[in-house]
Formats: sequence, structure tokens, C-alpha cells
Amino acid sequence: MISSKLPKMFYGGDYNPEQYDHATHVEDLRMFKLAGIDMATINVFAWALNQPDEDTYNFERLDQLIDSLYDSGVYICLGTSTAAHPAWMATKYPDVLRVDTNGQKRKFGGRHNSCPNSPTYRKYSERMALKLAERYKDHPAILVWHVSNEYGGDCYCDNCAAGFRVWLKEQYGTMDNLNRAWNTNFWGHTFYDWEEIVPASNLSEHWGNNSSTFQGISLDYARFNSDGMLDCYRLEYDAIKSVIPESLITTNMMGFYKPLDYFKWAKYMDIISWDSYPGLDTPISFTAMAHDLMRGLKGGQPFMLMEQTPSQQNWQAYNSLKRPGVMRLWSYQAIAHGADTVLFFQMRRSAGACEKYHGAVIEHVGHENTRVFREVAELGRELQLLGDTTLDTVTESKVGILFDWDNWWAAEKSSGPTIALNYVDQVHKYYAALFRRNISTDIISIDSDFSKYDIVIAPVLYMVKTGVAKKLEDFVQAGGTFLTTFFSGIVNETDMVTLGGYPGELRKMLGIWVEEVDALYPDKYNKIVMKNTLGDLQGEYNCGLLCDLLHSEGAEVLAEYGEDFYQGMPVLTRNKFGKGEAWYVASDPDDKFIDGLLKSICDAKGIEPLLETPTGVEVSRRSKDGQDFLFIMNHNATEQAVELGQLQVRDLLTETDLTGSVQIAGQGVQILKMK
Ligand code: GLA
Ligand code: ZN
Repeated sequence: MISSKLPKMFYGGDYNPEQYDHATHVEDLRMFKLAGIDMATINVFAWALNQPDEDTYNFERLDQLIDSLYDSGVYICLGTSTAAHPAWMATKYPDVLRVDTNGQKRKFGGRHNSCPNSPTYRKYSERMALKLAERYKDHPAILVWHVSNEYGGDCYCDNCAAGFRVWLKEQYGTMDNLNRAWNTNFWGHTFYDWEEIVPASNLSEHWGNNSSTFQGISLDYARFNSDGMLDCYRLEYDAIKSVIPESLITTNMMGFYKPLDYFKWAKYMDIISWDSYPGLDTPISFTAMAHDLMRGLKGGQPFMLMEQTPSQQNWQAYNSLKRPGVMRLWSYQAIAHGADTVLFFQMRRSAGACEKYHGAVIEHVGHENTRVFREVAELGRELQLLGDTTLDTVTESKVGILFDWDNWWAAEKSSGPTIALNYVDQVHKYYAALFRRNISTDIISIDSDFSKYDIVIAPVLYMVKTGVAKKLEDFVQAGGTFLTTFFSGIVNETDMVTLGGYPGELRKMLGIWVEEVDALYPDKYNKIVMKNTLGDLQGEYNCGLLCDLLHSEGAEVLAEYGEDFYQGMPVLTRNKFGKGEAWYVASDPDDKFIDGLLKSICDAKGIEPLLETPTGVEVSRRSKDGQDFLFIMNHNATEQAVELGQLQVRDLLTETDLTGSVQIAGQGVQILKMK
């Protein structure tokens, strides 16, 4: 139970008082009280202050900061400060500097800038974590350990190249295995010695937009890079645990962040935390899906909302302000999808460098009489009111959507059939259709227990890893409904095509054979023509992007292509398999089609919306100990009516009882405790 370590909904965020004088810090503490702020994430970028040279460590400043926050009622999420190496380290030990994909050695600058395979970085980051753990192991202020910050990027230096060879040896054992796995007889790539292998970069196999001439090599380099960063994280994690076994350790993630396989990372994290920075134009369903992914990383365990801006970013092209009420709304959206903390970046705006125009709880004016501060303080008051009510609640979903990083990398490193395939967009399309109907959905990994679900959806399951087809077959045999889409079942985990006809290992269960795959130009469409009505689906729909040309091998054909030379070939099929059914959508349909299709599949399984609401009104359910809470969130600017029907509920934020038809204000939120 996370709540034993985080016994309330902590509120606050990244705090960097080292950029200001002491008087300002005292002012900050006064204002934190006004806003109900009780957690500060500190020491994230203070490595150079903590360690002014190779042999000197200086923690007095940090001691004082931790004490003064604690004395003022603020608990600590303690950064290990290793997210940006000190300048002296880069000067003295250039191996900490990364080499980019074009082979250019970086100079000191920026952050998140250390080579993950640098012996110097590994040694000193681990040592820093150990020193911090030893120093603060008994400090009651520290609730969470925050290792480094937003691990990411990549490196192609000689240390990474050497590390890659070691990684490959572990993976493949022999040169022969590796040559086979990568199909190196193509373009005369046969390797005779491990030393001949170099990182997949713009100097070797990559061109433009990260496309690759040798997917197998590139894929392994992506895995190696993710694993290398994970090793860095684990060095610090183990160092802290060696001193404080009961510590709660995390590192902040970034949602759908492509370079790191977060499902793999999650195994080494005590709690997931993430930084949510939607733009004003990000679909709300996309933000919801990112929260659900973060909740899914540890099989449904609540997570920390580690960062969000109270008002605006600085790094987007157009840094719009969150409109009044939106910060509150999006904070509750995070809670509704599994967050057990609400934290901001940043508590006070910097006066210099690139984040001075990033929103903060305390603006440059320096006092509390600002719109942003008032909104933050009001939310602080509400969170106090909620107390521990929503902590440790879980989401119960009957629909799971598969997401897989290897599949993401492989599908998009593919040379052909189209440059327009975006795996996350495809996943989002199916998620969004469920979201629009308030059907609770989990984002799950291939390691998840599918038997918890009635429906498993795997958009573009291009790569079918060892054991996955069998696992899906077992799920369907036992009565589950499985749905996948075009360009699926094509390759194994080293990106070698499964020969004998697409969709390879999924072919039997789907009861189809895909003979060819057509790529459509961006403004071109084909038609999905329904053979009969299927729930709400009838008539014709547009489809595009990719069109699989397929034959039924026993599957029932529910719709056919309406145009082109493959007019009349199946585009939507359903195959009875064991007690369940396996669906195939052979192209990329318009949203209306996906809405209708998923409605019909959910109806068949008796999966109902949590509530029927007007467009833009989201409903999410969290439960604990048999008690359900409904979060109703109006993402529209205008007031909306929501029909509760027979439900008897208590609105926890206004402390009133509600039933029947209720009004919800524009950007409004209701947290309804079911009676
Ligand atoms: C990230 C980082 C923070 C800060 C914010 C700004 O999430 O973790 O240090 O730079 O972005 O949005
Ligand atoms: Zn490197």
C-alpha cells in the first residue's frame, strides 16, 4: 500500500531555492502555507553545488533547506541531483559527455546530458546517491527519493559502442546467432568479430527521421540505450536501498516517451511518477490515455503526478496559459486516472535562463495576489478537504489496450510501407473511442494477465514476440474478444518476417490471410462497406493509410473494401475461435466507424458506459474497499447537464447530496461518492 508511505494527497512540486536568497525562501515558506503546500521536490539539479570538485562534498546547504522545509510542515521528495553533471566533471572526465547520432562529441551544457555508459558518470552518480542516503536516512522529512530526472536521449560514443557489444553477446551468445537474427547477408553485412559492430546511428544505418536500413541493429540499439539508462537508475536505486531498505524510490517519467521501455523500467520502481505537460491542443483523451499508461506500468498501482505546470510551459512553440479552472480540472483528471499526488513544476519562477518563462506557483511579482496563486491555493484547500479519501483507489476495467515499446520502435523504424504510420496515434484512436463513451480502459503490457479482461485490443501489433500469439490464443479460446488491426503479425522480436503469410502467428486465430499491403497517399481513401448492419454500423465509412488485401480462411466477413482493384475484398472480419472471437480491421478507419465497432463489441460483452454524458464531459471511476467514486469532469467551457438516473451520490467537493439531473459548470469537476 503506497498510502502507508504517502498517507495523504501531497501537494507542491519542484522547488529550487538555490536560485534565490534566504529572504525569498522565507517568503516562499509563508506562501506555501497559504496554498496548503506540503511537499517539495528539491535537489534535482544541484550536483555542482553538492560536489564542488572531485573530492569535496558539501551538504550543509541541503541540510538547512530540508530542515527549514520540514519545520514549516513541508515534506520532501529528494532528488539525487544527478540529472546534470557538474562542469568540472565534463572538463576533467570528457567521457561523461555524449556523442550524438552524427558523431559529434558534445561539450558541457544543457542537462540530461551524461553518457549512460560513462564509467565516470556511473561512479559519481552512484556515489552521490549513496552519500545522500547515508546522510538523510533518518530524516523524517523525506518521503520519496527522486532519482535523477527525466532520463532520456541517447549516446553513440565509444564507451556506448563497447557496451553495445557486451549487451549483444549476452543477447545472442554467438556471432552466428546474431548474423541470423539481423539477416546480415543482406547488403553484405556479415560480421565475423564483435568489434566490427558499431552503434546504429546517422553514421551507420540511420537516415533522416530515424529510419533505418537495418531494423534489427537499430532495434537492438534502442533496447540497449533504454537498458543502459535503466542501469544508471538502478545503480542509484540500489545505493539508496542498501542504506534505507524501506525507502520509496522513483524517477519521473514522461508518458508516451519513445526512447525508454517504461514497462521494463517499472519493475525497478517502487512507485511510478510522471510529468504531464499537455498542450492546449492536446486531446483530453490523449492526456487520459497517458495517465492510464502510467497507471498500467505497475499493473494498476496509483502513481505520483510529479510535475505539471500551474499555468504555462516555456518549451512549446506557443506557450498558452491554462485557462481559469483548467489547472484544477487537469489535476483532478490525473487523480481520476490514478494519481495520488498533485505536484507542480515549479514553485517559484527562475529569474534567469530558459525556465524563467515557465509557469510557477509564485510568479515573478513575488506575492500571492495572482490568478495562478489563487487557483493553486483553492485546489490546495480542496485537497485538504478530500484528505485520504481517494488514496489507493483502483480502476476496474474490462477492456485492455496492449501497448508495447518494442513494437513501437519496430513499426516506426520500418522502411515501408508508409512513413505516415504512427503507432501511438493508432492506439489513441481506439482508446479515444472508448473514452468518448466513458468506458474504463487499462493500457496493458504483453506481460499482463489478459484473463482479467473481456476485451483486449492491440492496434498494429506489428511485432509478435515469443509466446504472445499463444497467450492471445489462450485468451480468446477461453472466451475473450481480441481485436487487432492492419500491419499486424508481421515480424518476430528481431524484426524478421514470420514467413508463410501474414499475419504470421496470428493467422490461425484471426482466420485470415493477408496477401498484400497497400499504402495510400495522405489525401486518399478507400471505403469500408458494411455487408449488414452491425449495431450502429451500417453503410459506408472512409479508411486510409494502409489497406491490407486479405482473404478469409474461415473468418466471417462483415465489411468489404468499396473501391480500387481490391474492391470486394474483406476489410472487417470476425473469427470464432474457441469460446471467443478474434476481430481484424484491415485498414485505418474514420472515428465514426471505430466508435460503432467498439460499441458493438462492448455491447456484446455487456460492457456499459460509466455514465452517458454530453460530448466533452468525462467520467472515470475509482474504487476501494467496495466503495466507488465517480469523477465527472467537464472539459467544455460551458455548463452541461449530466443525468445520474437512479444513482444516489454525495459530491465530496461541495459536500452535498445529488441525484437525477445535475448541472456541472464549464471546466467543472464533481467527485461523487456512491451511496
Ligand atoms: C521537465 C523537467 C523539469 C522542467 C519541466 C518544464 O518536466 O523535469 O525540470 O524542466 O520539464 O516543463
Ligand atoms: Zn556514450
